[in-house]
Amino acid sequence: MAGHTNASMNAALKAKNDEFYTLLTDIEKEMRYYRKHFKGKIVLCNCDDPFESNFFKYFVLNFNRLGLKKLIATCYHTSPIVGQQLQYRYGKDGQMSFLFGDELDEKYSEKHPYKAVVTKVYDTSGDGGIDMLDVAELFKSGENELTELEGDGDFRSQECLHLLDESDIVVTNPPFSLFREYVAVMMEHKKHFIIIGNSNASTYKEVFPLIMQNRLWLGVTRSGTGSMWFRIMDDFPEKSGQKIENGIRYQTIGNSAWFTNLDVKKRHEELILVKRYSPENYPSYTNYDAIEVSKVADIPCDYSGMMGVPITFLGKYNPDQFEILGLSSTMAKPIDECVEPDAEYIKGGPRFYVKEGHKKYKRCYDRIVIRNKHPEPPKEVK
Ligand SMILES: C[S@@+](CC[C@H](N)C(=O)[O-])C[C@H]1O[C@@H](n2cnc3c(N)ncnc32)[C@H](O)[C@@H]1O
Repeated sequence: MAGHTNASMNAALKAKNDEFYTLLTDIEKEMRYYRKHFKGKIVLCNCDDPFESNFFKYFVLNFNRLGLKKLIATCYHTSPIVGQQLQYRYGKDGQMSFLFGDELDEKYSEKHPYKAVVTKVYDTSGDGGIDMLDVAELFKSGENELTELEGDGDFRSQECLHLLDESDIVVTNPPFSLFREYVAVMMEHKKHFIIIGNSNASTYKEVFPLIMQNRLWLGVTRSGTGSMWFRIMDDFPEKSGQKIENGIRYQTIGNSAWFTNLDVKKRHEELILVKRYSPENYPSYTNYDAIEVSKVADIPCDYSGMMGVPITFLGKYNPDQFEILGLSSTMAKPIDECVEPDAEYIKGGPRFYVKEGHKKYKRCYDRIVIRNKHPEPPKEVK
């Protein structure tokens, strides 16, 4: 019994830890780079309560500007925000009716997942602009569709997979704990996507090969550096990196990043390289045939061999300029096989090491191994 309770408590805690809500400004900042991709397309937000998610809000309010064909949003049954801004009930005639804003009523705060399908957005009130009240009105009038899902709204459920197959581009912030599964589903269903994840996910064994094969890359505005704030619920566990503004709680996640497989201009911008190679400044690894480049800004412009660079390189990666060959965690040879039996070094999983003194070796952070596709000729030594 105790095991059961622990398991359900862990599941509840895990679910809670997935409840981060993306801010509209962050969505706007990133989406502007993909504008040309949206015209005439069906966008799916499949981890998004239609009336709470800023992804839905962004796409519905920009529906005409982006020239979308359709917008679909579905939400998950455990989402704590379902029913906070929109409620619905069934009348005796079986018709669904909706309650919004001031009409909200505690007794109708049911938490059943639903799907929103939008095919038209216009100014229903005649006040000269489009807002969420117009969007709600279009659901009420039946011009757009709001229906209960049969299942729990899991993005892997059959009914959600049908919606996925119908759509062209998926845009959301999926639960971090299901990131691997989420990417696998996108790949299996051959979908274009723009999603948020933890930048550490880049090195997952399921994700990194996709990056190497140029089937997935980091987005523009957040690529693992700098912090991004998310709205959290009142019962979210207290942690460092939180703030409250106007009664709303926020959590920062320093290494959050956008992941996508839609091409953007920024991805083809050349990284300006100003440093030149010298063996003194770029030591070779003891347990791999590559040089150590500890900062992305220090990548030498004239080195044609393999280089180990920090993971943050992925935020600057231009596939026309560089080739990604692998990760130190899978490429490093066992250090004990490469050094003297009595050598000093910090032990751990596979990593690159550089010599830093007599029989002393420094363990490097995780590295990505890259090669410059068009290195400058080396400077002539006089
Ligand atoms: C990180 S939150 C982001 C919510 C929203 N996309 C946003 O960015 O504001 C992840 C959301 O996925 C939902 N979720 C959790 N597991 C899910 C699943 N298996 N299928 C679909 N949604 C899920 C959670 O309820 C939560 O609302």
